[in-house]
Amino acid sequence: MVFCLLKLAWEPLWNPKLEKNIRQFDSEVTEHPDTVGACTFVTCLDSEPVGMGSYDPRQEPERGIIGWNCVVPEHQGKGLGKAQIQELLRIFRNRGIRKACVTTTDEEFFVPAQRTCEACGFDRVRKTKDNNIEYELELK
Ligand SMILES: CC(C)(COP(=O)(O)OP(=O)(O)OC[C@H]1O[C@@H](n2cnc3c(N)ncnc32)[C@H](O)[C@@H]1OP(=O)(O)O)[C@@H](O)C(=O)NCCC(=O)NCCS
Repeated sequence: MVFCLLKLAWEPLWNPKLEKNIRQFDSEVTEHPDTVGACTFVTCLDSEPVGMGSYDPRQEPERGIIGWNCVVPEHQGKGLGKAQIQELLRIFRNRGIRKACVTTTDEEFFVPAQRTCEACGFDRVRKTKDNNIEYELELK
């Protein structure tokens, strides 16, 4: 299910490397239900899966990393992406994590992701040489 949701959301950028990365993440969710799987959720609308979010808490309590997250195109622009990030922030706060971190890319396709981070209060902290934009949010 995670693979299908990510494939739908990433369709415009689909390429073999991306497919391999997403297949690998999907396998990890299934093969490690108590770690990667426990840090991944699916969002449903009327019991239809429409999005997913995930995180990596291994650097807690200093940092929580927001991982793969998406909303399928048919249901984008309805506030679900923001709600998923807010759910991840709620989980981080519950775990006592002090800073949330998320990376996106400086490309047209990722403008909604950039706006979603900004709408959730993240600050842009750096841009890397490979065009990634790193965002952070101090959690009170
Ligand atoms: C990023 C993504 C999850 C956002 O999901 P979404 O449900 O469409 O987002 P929301 O409707 O919750 O919108 C969140 C904010 O972004 C803004 N936004 C969303 N799409 C936008 C767009 N195309 N242009 C400008 N702003 C946009 C919204 O206005 C909202 O801000 P606001 O609360 O200040 O009004 C979704 O577009 C997606 O899956 N994209 C492809 C995969 C991806 O980029 N994942 C994230 C990788 S870090």
